[in-house]
Amino acid sequence: IKCTVIIPAAGKGKRMNTKKSKQYIELLDKPILAYTIDAFEKCDKIDNIILVVGKNEIEYVRKEIVEKYNFNKVIEIIEGGKERQDSVYEGIKSLSSNTDVVLIHDGARPFIETELIEKAIINAYEYGACVVGVRVKDTIKVSDGDNNIIDTPNRNTLWSIQTPQAFKKDLITMVYGRGINDKYNATDDSMLVEKYSDIKVKIVEGAYSNIKITTSEDLIIAKSFLNL
Ligand code: CTP
Ligand code: MG
Repeated sequence: IKCTVIIPAAGKGKRMNTKKSKQYIELLDKPILAYTIDAFEKCDKIDNIILVVGKNEIEYVRKEIVEKYNFNKVIEIIEGGKERQDSVYEGIKSLSSNTDVVLIHDGARPFIETELIEKAIINAYEYGACVVGVRVKDTIKVSDGDNNIIDTPNRNTLWSIQTPQAFKKDLITMVYGRGINDKYNATDDSMLVEKYSDIKVKIVEGAYSNIKITTSEDLIIAKSFLNL
């Protein structure tokens, strides 16, 4: 199975509130994005890595991350778009024809483990589409527009969805094309498969440690994972 991972890392990290975008914040002198890339570089099942970054970061990423850490699987560093969905679409457009499975993984999720990447690939190949997620710990409520609770879904049915999300190449290419065409706003990649195909997306039970660095509290957690 030929596998390519697209890593969207073109966001500005507004919720982090730092000058530097969060994916470039350094832990032990190494940018968060480098930890993320490293997880895929060392996974034997991954053939190629496509990085999607901000226009002004392309040269920095090439020199200070890809060349510095010898990430040999990185075949492209391309410019992202306005929303995450736009950035991923840029990656999808540059996929080579000999790819079978495409993984999409947030640049800001550095603690993904090899075993989960492999599980995602196997499930995508078998079912067409899968996402990594964990069971929610809290009770989740549904509200109306005015902070009144209108429903409490059974917690056993609820999952907190992470990345990687993995798909057969032809499927993800088709649904992304349609989503962009319709200007359909999807908050994750799976949503497009749910909307534009009959394929059932499989959930692969993942790890609570696979956090997305989003707010300043997450940096404290990240440091503790690294024993800092
Ligand atoms: N991302 C991207 N292009 C965008 C927006 C986001 O490639 N236009 C990437 C981010 O860099 C990140 C991943 O998508 O690796 C998940 O997005 P998120 O955590 O929301 O990051 P930001 O959008 O940067 O953060 P915020 O929403 O707080 O501004
Ligand atoms: Mg965002």
